[in-house]
Amino acid sequence: MTKKDPPAGNPALRSREWFGTSDRNGFMHRSWMKNQGTPNRAFDGRPVIGICNTWSELTPCNAHLRGIAEAVKLGVIENGGFPVEFPVMSLGETLLRPTAMLFRNLVSMDVEESIRANPIDGVVLLCGCDKTTPALVMGAASCDLPTIVVSGGPMLNGKFRGRDIGSGTNLFSMSEEHRAGTLSAQAFLEAEAGMSRSAGHCMTMGTASTMACLIEAMGLSLPQNGAIPAVDSRRTLLARDSGFRIVDMVREDLRLSKVLDRRSFENAIRINAAIGGSTNAVIHLLAIAGRTRIPLDLADFDRIGRHVPLLADLMPAGRYLMEDFYYAGGLPALIAELGELVDGSAATVTGRSLAQNIEGTVNWNPEVIRPRANPVVKDAGIAVLRGNLAPNGALIKPAAATPALLKHRGRAVVFEGLQDFRTRIDDPALDVDADCILVMRNVGLRGFPGMPEVGNMPLPRKLLESGVRDMVRISDARMSGTAYGTVILHVAPEASLGGPLALVRNGDFIEIDMENGRLHLDVSEEELDRRRKDWTPPPRKATRGYEGLFLDHVMQPDTGADFDFLVGQSGAEARENAH
Ligand code: FES
Repeated sequence: MTKKDPPAGNPALRSREWFGTSDRNGFMHRSWMKNQGTPNRAFDGRPVIGICNTWSELTPCNAHLRGIAEAVKLGVIENGGFPVEFPVMSLGETLLRPTAMLFRNLVSMDVEESIRANPIDGVVLLCGCDKTTPALVMGAASCDLPTIVVSGGPMLNGKFRGRDIGSGTNLFSMSEEHRAGTLSAQAFLEAEAGMSRSAGHCMTMGTASTMACLIEAMGLSLPQNGAIPAVDSRRTLLARDSGFRIVDMVREDLRLSKVLDRRSFENAIRINAAIGGSTNAVIHLLAIAGRTRIPLDLADFDRIGRHVPLLADLMPAGRYLMEDFYYAGGLPALIAELGELVDGSAATVTGRSLAQNIEGTVNWNPEVIRPRANPVVKDAGIAVLRGNLAPNGALIKPAAATPALLKHRGRAVVFEGLQDFRTRIDDPALDVDADCILVMRNVGLRGFPGMPEVGNMPLPRKLLESGVRDMVRISDARMSGTAYGTVILHVAPEASLGGPLALVRNGDFIEIDMENGRLHLDVSEEELDRRRKDWTPPPRKATRGYEGLFLDHVMQPDTGADFDFLVGQSGAEARENAH
């Protein structure tokens, strides 16, 4: 440790380890920063606020975050802090191959080590596109500094020939119409231009909006972070207010661990049901809970969220979009409608409770945010299914499914992976009818690898042409939060680890019974044992580099898909100086 002068400012600030000495190292730490025009007063003991930015032109949903960062900086400076913006790897859902999920844990490591290795007293996390939010929160949680999240906000409503269209949701539906021959190529191209017409992330209640809302629900952002459109000036104001607030949070030593507790996660589960949130939230909440060592398991989602009503009438489960949600009152109005279903005593970054934060909130549009007496769906929470096909659980989002298919027995049509599915799904000779169950395996975390969002398999063209629009589909993959259908996901253990999904054969019968949480492969135990003995694992997909690390250490989706060695916290104590 370096020799230190009596530090100016708060001696407890970890940034004083870098900037609070008058020796050679203090010279070095300050002098190089001064090449950016930084004045001496920046080093007088004021809180140093890191602004962790996932800006990237390859992540279109986050491409405006440099502007948001400037607003955060203004707020930090207004309140006497010293802002320092730093980049971390960004993850864009639409461009990254094979799937952004493969890199969520990598980004969390980037965030954790960037925070811990630098002279930062508090951190503002700038995120937006799906995986950027959980990745940043996971990394920050393992450091446990004062932390506040600023989401980039959703895009404005998509527009197409006089009506609203939603990111992802209408991509999927219009793609099926195009394949069925009921939507022209010209119309399809027009929709492409009208769907994404402003800065921001998907404006359906997909994973990005879900995570932004759940971060607000857990108290990790200022109120209204979940829904303000990216280009609404109130988003810029929220960023500026967040910059102002984080400086006070450092002064109050209001660390992330003082905000998050079991109540935060229970609220997030209930609110996820009430907003019709993404199934991906299950994996991300489990991973964040793992970093904070707050007990949470898959059964909690069923037990706590299952009978919560869907109140937000938003795509993909409903009709409206995030812009409408914000104008109706946003998440505070929805929380107010939920009443005693939400634990208002939970802490938030404002220093006030969740209930105090929403005092005086009004629901301006009960069509968009339904009152509890008139929900979109009565029991909307994500359901956990178990049985001999998914001993460690599988998920279904009932609000996005066809009710008549939630209790169903059907003949399995099995695909060995994504390539096999793409090759055969539109084959006129494929032996499939509307009552069949499409099964795809080897698309899990290790099997693919990365567990891509392919669980909402497109339907066979010949069935689309005959008017079929939904079928039961089962896989060890994930599904985009913007997608819909009777889709059973996250089957664990996954097939490439020898989970029972690997043993299903064409023609087997499968039973689902959502009400009773059952997913059953109707094949005798003796026959399954025989098949198990014959089963050989698929070849490992990578031997080196990050993918090799991923295959060696990723946990299964029922425990959050984090790396086994990243669970927990290492804190943010300043490391020994080696200069
Ligand atoms: Fe980024 Fe949907 S692609 S949020």
